[in-house]
Amino acid sequence: MKDHAPRTSDRTVRLEEYTPFPWIVGDVSLTFRLHPTATRVLSRITFANDPAAPSGPFFLHGEKLNLIEARIDGVPVSPDITAEGLTCDVPDTPFVFEAEVEIDPSGNTALDGLYMSGGMYCTQCEAEGFRKITFYPDRPDVMAPFNVRIEGPEDKPLPVMLSNGNPGAQEGNSAEWHDPWPKPSYLFALVAGDLVAKSGTFTTASGMPVALNVYVRPGDEDRCDYALDALIRSMRWDEREYGREYDLSVFSIVAVDDFNMGAMENKGLNIFNSKYVLASPDTATDVDFEMIEGIVAHEYFHNWTGNRVTCRDWFQLCLKEGLTVFRDQQFSGDMRSEPVKRIDDVLALRARQFREDNGPLAHPVRPESYIEINNFYTATVYEKGAEVIGMLRRLVGAEAYRAALDLYFERHDGQACTIEDWLAVFEDATGRDLSQFKLWYSQAGTPRVEVSEDWDEEAGRLALTFRQHTPPTPGQPDKAPLVIPVALGLLDAAGHEIMATEVVELTEAEQTVEIGLGTGGADLEAKASRVPGRPVPSILRGFSAPVILQRQTSAEERAFLLAHDTDPFNKWEAGRALARDVLVRMVTDGAEPGQQYLSALQMVAKDDTLDPAFRALALSLPSQDDLAQAIHDGGATPDPTAIWAALRRLAEEIGGTLEPVLSELYDEMRVPGPYTPDAQSAGSRALRGAALAYLSRVDGGSRAAAQFAEAGNMTERLGALGALLRIGKGEEELAAFRRRWEGDRLVMDKWFALQAASASPAEAHDVAQRLTGDPAFDWTNPNRFRSVIGALAGNPAAFHEPEGRIYRLVTDWLIRLDPLNPQTAARLTTSFETWKRFDADRQGMIRENLERLSAVEGLSRDTSEMVGRILA
Ligand code: ARG
Ligand code: ZN
Repeated sequence: MKDHAPRTSDRTVRLEEYTPFPWIVGDVSLTFRLHPTATRVLSRITFANDPAAPSGPFFLHGEKLNLIEARIDGVPVSPDITAEGLTCDVPDTPFVFEAEVEIDPSGNTALDGLYMSGGMYCTQCEAEGFRKITFYPDRPDVMAPFNVRIEGPEDKPLPVMLSNGNPGAQEGNSAEWHDPWPKPSYLFALVAGDLVAKSGTFTTASGMPVALNVYVRPGDEDRCDYALDALIRSMRWDEREYGREYDLSVFSIVAVDDFNMGAMENKGLNIFNSKYVLASPDTATDVDFEMIEGIVAHEYFHNWTGNRVTCRDWFQLCLKEGLTVFRDQQFSGDMRSEPVKRIDDVLALRARQFREDNGPLAHPVRPESYIEINNFYTATVYEKGAEVIGMLRRLVGAEAYRAALDLYFERHDGQACTIEDWLAVFEDATGRDLSQFKLWYSQAGTPRVEVSEDWDEEAGRLALTFRQHTPPTPGQPDKAPLVIPVALGLLDAAGHEIMATEVVELTEAEQTVEIGLGTGGADLEAKASRVPGRPVPSILRGFSAPVILQRQTSAEERAFLLAHDTDPFNKWEAGRALARDVLVRMVTDGAEPGQQYLSALQMVAKDDTLDPAFRALALSLPSQDDLAQAIHDGGATPDPTAIWAALRRLAEEIGGTLEPVLSELYDEMRVPGPYTPDAQSAGSRALRGAALAYLSRVDGGSRAAAQFAEAGNMTERLGALGALLRIGKGEEELAAFRRRWEGDRLVMDKWFALQAASASPAEAHDVAQRLTGDPAFDWTNPNRFRSVIGALAGNPAAFHEPEGRIYRLVTDWLIRLDPLNPQTAARLTTSFETWKRFDADRQGMIRENLERLSAVEGLSRDTSEMVGRILA
């Protein structure tokens, strides 16, 4: 019943069963005596009864801990110990609990708790890793200040020993750290090893100096500048945009090579997957630089949205993640092009979150139950969680949003909060009733919004009727109407905007909005049309809500919007819809691409009033997975091989028909001078890269081979190599690339991933055999595992090759990884989440593999929960 009760390994945790911890933790002192296989952790924790909480047994989480000794108020005790933790009798009055435990960081292959990576000690405690370090109430609503002492191994002193907060005594072979800010245990961190720092300083708006450090392994120090710069820009931005200052004398980022996720916002000591820290022009692409900027900002922004104000329980994860993703998206939009960032974010949302929402793993932004919380760090919690905040901001306006956030920080600083607290702040700051809006947090599934139009020429009125419905998702057969902000604009028949963007709020299952053309009395008024004829609405501008808009329109109208829409998102969206329709017809009816699409594309490619980054996006085609979803939505069964072939055929057609324009662009977009990662240069390189990919379809790869040979940066080198591989060439270049970068883990990840991601259905099996048999395929490293197995599973043409050999290979590797690293194995099972879209043969083969996986003896809780949900 109670959250503090021991949990059996297959127990479901439920939101409705939340109960507070019966004690208040006063403060926490930890001493670490580091040793690779036998680290000792001594804890001293003060507990006092919480009069506001219901009483219960004294239970501390603890897993895989070897208890040496426990004491209460100095007297040795013998607690009951299970696989989940410890219970023991305690006094009614405040007491001191002490324990000494031994743990084995070297043997910790799950990379959760204290582990070793490349000879250094590091930690990952979110969500429930701290219980693998010592006995503790390891839940986010227990917050306390931490004092930490780290003692290095006697035989091998460690130059750098770090923990959260401000530094205390650092002498000889020991270091002390004091974190004055009460924090939950999931934000604890420790790092120790042979590290070097790239340092800087930041002075807060109120004049507090902060020492900044990016710690890396010796040899990597020349790849930290960009991360450090992104950190400084993030700190400045959070002060300016949210009034949030940093609150310690030190802020450090540490790069580690073995990491399950992207990065972690531990208080004052962020730990990163080295992939999201290390960058030089020679080793990182434009996309890498952009990711580093976004993730550095994300983790830094957590200092307020996550750390100062944290989550009451893990069901509230979106409280910190949705908000922090929204904030990092705003930041990147500010640093770069806002419309381009929006399109990128929507592409990612559709690729990951819509896919999740439309399959067996669909769950609400705030889930109501889980077996393993690590399985809920999902696109729905993160990205849809961010969309929900974007909608809230659109509904209340930018000013009221800022006022609500100010109130949130003022009211909840130092607390562990819920979505109810978050919404109450908006209700109090704006006077709005958000009870219907709250459904976005509890109702899973992607809403469909159907629009029909009725134009009354005589009255000069356009009526738009919206019908919303959300399809059933697991456990939620019936859905209620949501509050959906729809941003609308109107163009006249000549393509002039006659109504600038207005936001209408849908709240009913069906709703009609009337737009009058200077006639008065309608819901919205446009300036009188300057040319006669039916005006054209631009609907869901800026992708104002995470819904699927269903609208019957002609290719002519899409081409019209692509040419004239003033809203960059909808302009792009019109082109994307055109491409999708063309491709779906090619796949399902064997149709030809058709001139209309090609001329529309040519027009955008040539239009130099448009940002190159935008043009690059407009030139890119929908993904294989997008098309499978679209075909499935249209009631047909997608054939992955046919989709792959249609995409190739369309790319060849574009390369052929647009050759003169593309070849001009290819020359024009060359960025002169030394490489810089700024958005403008990156945009030019992206457009040039898009042109190269199409041209390579028709020039035999000559341009790509030349570019590869001459490239002065990784973006151009990798772009050229990819273009070659996709036309079945590049063998020599692959070998040269390998020789040059053999010793570089991050670059070799790219070498593996590119081959896996561009394998054709016919090559897939051989490529997979070759890559998994490569001596450099160190599958125990999560980045390397993902760059081979993840990339194969993420390449639909390869994954679904008709004989099912890649299904089997991926499953075999998941079975192998699961006992070592359940988190990463469980995450990759999502490769199978779309299985019910496909034909009976493929479904049968996938089911067989999933059942084989699910039958593995001792399968982790992580993976068995995922497989169970996918098969259900
Ligand atoms: N809070 C981290 C982040 O920003 C993610 C940590 C996830 N860790 C995990 N084991 N699931 O975004
Ligand atoms: Zn986060």
